[in-house]
Amino acid sequence: MDYYIDKVFDLNFGKKKTAKINTFGCQMNAHDSEKLCDMLLKMGYKITDDKNNNDVDLVLFNTCCVRENPEDKLFGNLGYFKNKKKLKPDLKIILCGCMMQQKHIIEKIKKSYDFVDVVFGTFNAHKFPELLFNNLVTNSQIIDIWKENKNHEEEIYLTRKYFFKASVNIIYGCNNFCSYCIVPYVRGRERSRNFNEILDEIKKLVDDGVKEIMLLGQNVNSYGLDLKENKINFAELLFKVNNINGLERIRFMTSHPKDLSDDLIFAIRDLNKVCKHLHLPVQSGSNRILKLMNRKYTREKYLDLINKIKMNINDIALSTDIIVGFPSETENDFLETIDLIKKVEFNSAFSFIYSKREGTPAAKMSEQIDSEIVKKRFGYLIKVLNEIIEKKNKIYNGKVEKILVEEFDEENKKLTGRNEKNMLVHFESDKNLVGKIVNVKIIDAKPFYLIGQKIGS
Ligand code: SAH
Ligand code: SF4
Ligand code: F3S
Repeated sequence: MDYYIDKVFDLNFGKKKTAKINTFGCQMNAHDSEKLCDMLLKMGYKITDDKNNNDVDLVLFNTCCVRENPEDKLFGNLGYFKNKKKLKPDLKIILCGCMMQQKHIIEKIKKSYDFVDVVFGTFNAHKFPELLFNNLVTNSQIIDIWKENKNHEEEIYLTRKYFFKASVNIIYGCNNFCSYCIVPYVRGRERSRNFNEILDEIKKLVDDGVKEIMLLGQNVNSYGLDLKENKINFAELLFKVNNINGLERIRFMTSHPKDLSDDLIFAIRDLNKVCKHLHLPVQSGSNRILKLMNRKYTREKYLDLINKIKMNINDIALSTDIIVGFPSETENDFLETIDLIKKVEFNSAFSFIYSKREGTPAAKMSEQIDSEIVKKRFGYLIKVLNEIIEKKNKIYNGKVEKILVEEFDEENKKLTGRNEKNMLVHFESDKNLVGKIVNVKIIDAKPFYLIGQKIGS
């Protein structure tokens, strides 16, 4: 890869080129963008987030296709950059990420978007410098999509957004094939990384000043199941990560409820660095819908699991994902979801309107739900969730929380950070606290954030 990085660098030498990265989708994509950003820097580009795109020489879209919205957004953006390119013909437009793994998208680009310069997918991002080089010298559209991973998932190239926290991939892909979800088709089957590689990467990050690590995977609970040698499971991996000196916080996402083991619950309970926060997507509270979704658990099993977690881990914060309007969802099914969220009392939740994804089994299901009905259900769900979340947040009032400070807002001179439970906390204090863990007393609780006062020196 270095060979082509150097070649593009030579082509760009002295030209002060600027690149802009637009990332859609989940943390996997955000993490991939950190790698692409590092490649761009090494190829001689300066990274900008200029909203007007005036000085941009290269624009990269790392795309998502989990729902329809991000797709529409991309094609809207491409129309805008097509016009920009008319005024500036050497502007480079790069597309990559999950959406590019879909055949119909590539056909659409070939047919109607000939002004796009380079296209690659989720399995060959390491080829970006080579593909860009080929485009720069030929000025013709370069499309290279791999159907599967060919052991090219390197983690060495990275530019982190924050110096004090970082994500580390532990498992790629997904084997679950939930009937609504496109991810297994665009990210391939599960591939766990060797644990020594993971630990080495984390140690390097900690030496570099990182305090908080997010272990990433579509389903981290399956970590290790596919390994042939050095086989350990996710709970065992957490023990090893917890032993790394200098590391202060460990987070992970996402856990699938079907295989959250007792060992994992005990690991979260017993390991001092593992944050007491669990993201456990339920998707629906109706057994009929869960079955159609191919989630492989029932509402009773999910609720039992939640009880076990709450019994074992004092004060755990729980978050979830919910889909409204899955094909054939009745009012009764929906009310079962409402009932479940009232029983669990999540601390936060991401709710989504079901989005039909071509190529998934759910797209072929006959009873797609009328959008007006879904909007009404969605509105009600949000109302119920907000009431629960507001009530849960009030618990923090008057408490002293340990906050990892993430950002300083110059305008209102406020710091923003997160407590162990992943709640956002705003407070006034000194700019140089960014990256530090400080004690903050919570004085007010809003639905989506807390307000605090720094205590101690
Ligand atoms: N691997 C994770 C997250 C995958 S995508 C997990 O299994 O939980 C994140 C969320 O997007 C999912 O949890 C689901 O709630 C939502 N999602 C996925 N496909 C969707 C679709 N077709 N329509 C609406 N929401 C969807
Ligand atoms: Fe999609 Fe299900 Fe895999 Fe999550 S577990 S990525 S929802 S198929
Ligand atoms: Fe993530 Fe979207 Fe891909 S949610 S895995 S970026 S389809």
